[in-house]
Amino acid sequence: MKAITLPEFGGPESLVLTDVDVPDPRAGEVLVRVAAAGVNRADLLQRQGHYPPPPGESEVPGLEVSGVVEVLGEGVEGWAVGDEVCALLAGGGYAELVRVPVGQLLPVPAGVSLVDAAALPEVVCTVWSNVFLVANLQPGETLLVHGGSSGIGTMAVQLAREVGAHTIVTAGTAAKLDACRDLGAEVLVNYREDDFVEAVAEATEGEGADVILDIVGAKYLSRNVSALATSGRLVIIGMQGGTRAELDIAALLAKRAAVIATSLRGRPAGEKATIVAAVREHVWPLIADGRVHPVVHSRYPLSEVAQAHRELEAGAHVGKILLTVG
Ligand SMILES: NC(=O)c1ccc[n+]([C@@H]2O[C@H](COP(=O)([O-])OP(=O)(O)OC[C@H]3O[C@@H](n4cnc5c(N)ncnc54)[C@H](OP(=O)(O)O)[C@@H]3O)[C@@H](O)[C@H]2O)c1
Repeated sequence: MKAITLPEFGGPESLVLTDVDVPDPRAGEVLVRVAAAGVNRADLLQRQGHYPPPPGESEVPGLEVSGVVEVLGEGVEGWAVGDEVCALLAGGGYAELVRVPVGQLLPVPAGVSLVDAAALPEVVCTVWSNVFLVANLQPGETLLVHGGSSGIGTMAVQLAREVGAHTIVTAGTAAKLDACRDLGAEVLVNYREDDFVEAVAEATEGEGADVILDIVGAKYLSRNVSALATSGRLVIIGMQGGTRAELDIAALLAKRAAVIATSLRGRPAGEKATIVAAVREHVWPLIADGRVHPVVHSRYPLSEVAQAHRELEAGAHVGKILLTVG
């Protein structure tokens, strides 16, 4: 089968379309014929040699796909050959075929095309696990989303709106902020022009944000703590602004607030299956009802993967970039 391999780490040109062996589904796994794969920021890091796959996982990049079940591994129940699915992966998605543990499979939701379903698993599982399972965002609370126009941000805004939370977003251009408003964000902060701590204080009458979903990391740590409400929860899922910063424990203690950092890819299969099951129960009905949708910016054939990486790196997109396969 064809797959993208990385003979050496480096720029987008180091992604090479190659013939590789078809993976063999193990017990409790299925083999999926891939229709599309999502391109994630983590794939850029893997390409550069900074984010190796977990031990035992495919070296082929790709953390999410959509496609059709082609082979059932031993002991698989509840799925059939020919089922249209999307899946969360630890790797292997940039390929014609990929093996998937059944706990990481989801049906393609009604109203979403087979290709666009590849835009869902990583962002929905990341947002649901962090904003709702970890940070326990409640109706009426305020969520601050950094990078509101990112793949992650576009889903966080929609899901927060659906539970009745108020959303404040940051982004770097007016066009990106417009897109966030269309998805339900109530307060828009251009971080290149305005200070988000002041904007949050103004929007919440000095209370602060109950939950912050952060992709910036070190550069924002101190200001994020300032922007938190009493009993606030800061969840850090990205390190685009560095990894080391000073934390004022007195400020955190005074607010009785929490700072949490998580990663989806490295979680054991059992934890991923729990998240996927929660997503299927709570988010899939919202998508099937047309209330929440994947935001897809562009689709490239697998052979143009380098161009897809360049576009993600350039950062002008809103939502997800996909690779179509076959
Ligand atoms: N921990 C996990 O389990 C997990 C899972 C999935 C994703 N992530 C992380 O989540 C982040 C988003 O992922 P994605 O795939 O959705 O990425 P993406 O679509 O590439 O979006 C990244 C966006 O961040 C914005 N950004 C950069 N610096 C910013 C700043 N200072 N303030 C506000 N926005 C800023 C950029 O837009 P503008 O600067 O133009 O606004 C850029 O478009 C990435 O860092 C990724 O690694 C973590």
